Amino acid sequence: DSIKIFAPATVANVSCGFDALGLAINAVGDEMIFTKTETKGVSISKIEGAELTFDSHKNAASVVAWAMLDKIKPDFGVTIALYKKVKPGSGLGSSASSSAGAAFAMNKLLGNPFSNLELTEFARLGEKAACGSPIADNVAAAIYGGFILVKSYDPLEIVKLPVPEELWVTVIHPQIEIKTEDARNVLQPTVTVANAVKQSANLAGLISGLYTDNYKLISRSLEDVIAEPYRKKLIPHFDDIKNDGLKAGALGVGISGSGPTLFALSKGEKIAKNVAESMRTIYSKTTIDFNIYVSKVN
Ligand code: HSE
Repeated sequence: DSIKIFAPATVANVSCGFDALGLAINAVGDEMIFTKTETKGVSISKIEGAELTFDSHKNAASVVAWAMLDKIKPDFGVTIALYKKVKPGSGLGSSASSSAGAAFAMNKLLGNPFSNLELTEFARLGEKAACGSPIADNVAAAIYGGFILVKSYDPLEIVKLPVPEELWVTVIHPQIEIKTEDARNVLQPTVTVANAVKQSANLAGLISGLYTDNYKLISRSLEDVIAEPYRKKLIPHFDDIKNDGLKAGALGVGISGSGPTLFALSKGEKIAKNVAESMRTIYSKTTIDFNIYVSKVN
């Protein structure tokens, strides 16, 4: 009894939704194989693509698997083979991909006892193991797919948002590593009332744009006054990529999660690919290695 799954990378925040919005990128994700074992408990048989711990009480994927086995207490254990395609410290929800993938796969092996909301709760334990905070935006996007809103944390409430038919995402991942913890430490502990109003109005505008297929409203709402002003300094050529991406027709350009990956939303595949080219042009002139993915949001 074995199951092979794909767990998508994700863009968290999506500019105006700090810790609240997430979307799945189908073009890249971790692959994982979960195999039932007679020995109880969780082990990791293989990790390819990243230097991660084989300690099953510390690795994000296996921490999630342990929690689910402890809850159901089946008469089997599980071993995990992890093929990491989403690089740690990329801002593409690397630990979330493994955590969400583990929750999804374990649910299948256990006979589907859990809802998506419960799977998100389990997956948050992997996030906590990996980066210290049980953030839900990436894991919920990987589990639900498409575009999601973390409406509240206590109790956890996830809202699946509608996605306009022609919404595409472009991401460029410059291969430098930024730890989420470090990117959270550069944020200010307080927000002015003026900025709180701006951010919440933008978030409302974006959500409204998603419900009404209003690409212009989506575009006007993709602004972040809480994290981007502080985090962009950590990302080489951020302003150039953003300006050229917008010139190439993107609806908006921002930091994917805690960076260094940048994302752009576009109307239609053609513009999304033009935006990818504009991003490629900038990093091609540097010594920075990078990956680019273009994907329909759905
Ligand atoms: N919302 C999180 C952040 C994403 O921006 O710090 C990383 O999980």
